[in-house]
Amino acid sequence: MKNGTRIAVIGVGAVGSTAAYTLLLRERMDELVLIDANHDKAVGDALDMNHGLPFLGKSKVWAGTFEDCRSADIIVIAAGAAQQPGETRIALLQRNISIFESVIDEILKYNTHGILLVASNPVDIMSYFSWKRSGWPSNRVIGTGTLLDSARFRYLIGSHLDIDPRSVHAHIVGEHGDSELPLWSLANIAGMEPELTEDVKETIFNNTKDAAYQIIQAKGATYYAIALAIDRICTAILRNEGSVLNVSTLLNNYEDISDIYIGVPCVVDRQGVRSVVKLDISDGERILLQRSAAKLKGIVSSIS
Ligand code: 2OP
Repeated sequence: MKNGTRIAVIGVGAVGSTAAYTLLLRERMDELVLIDANHDKAVGDALDMNHGLPFLGKSKVWAGTFEDCRSADIIVIAAGAAQQPGETRIALLQRNISIFESVIDEILKYNTHGILLVASNPVDIMSYFSWKRSGWPSNRVIGTGTLLDSARFRYLIGSHLDIDPRSVHAHIVGEHGDSELPLWSLANIAGMEPELTEDVKETIFNNTKDAAYQIIQAKGATYYAIALAIDRICTAILRNEGSVLNVSTLLNNYEDISDIYIGVPCVVDRQGVRSVVKLDISDGERILLQRSAAKLKGIVSSIS
């Protein structure tokens, strides 16, 4: 039996455990279950988080098994190998596909109604794979996509102009990875185009795209900002917000792109992805988005 909302986090490495802790700090759910192939790690994390409950709200946290996914509203998947310094996200593909085969099959034994939120890399391909293997409607299988990249982009624009990043509206779309692209044609602060030279724009985008490489080089992994991105998506779902978030979703007949998961602005609510926002982008941006999708499709065809 469950009491209230439940989030299951599968894989409590750096990203999964930080996401779980972030969700707990912000009191997003009543029940939080941590599941990991290394059960001791999940037990240790659950104990550690339980010892913080006197300072927090009334959530219940425990180390569970896949059976605890039964009544989960959201299942966050952060399981799998992580990038080493200098390694691309795509290089993780084969390792993470074999892990996901068993993870998805285990989830399906107990849950057929929830929302899968995929964070493992390469996230667009892992999301597509999860959608195919689960057979669930695509609105209920979501990847974290370029939400994190868009946050990095907004932060960098804001810090260059000394503007609060929450007041910067700007989108990174495409692969969460090397072929992603900035939508400069839509970037705005209070409806006005940010005043940036071409050189500054190039530096901001390169620093956005290469942020993970820089952080992994410096400290081995990235986890705080992605944890907040996961929290943001879970909140939009659980509160039925209808927020526009750049998550990875299945595209069909969108800018001539079909049958691939990729990061684009989506309306997220209790159904998961309610709809994909139609974009008014430049021809150059459209070509780059189509190229990014073609890259991902090429990789998908190499695995299936
Ligand atoms: C990130 O962008 C590694 O995908 C992860 O931080």
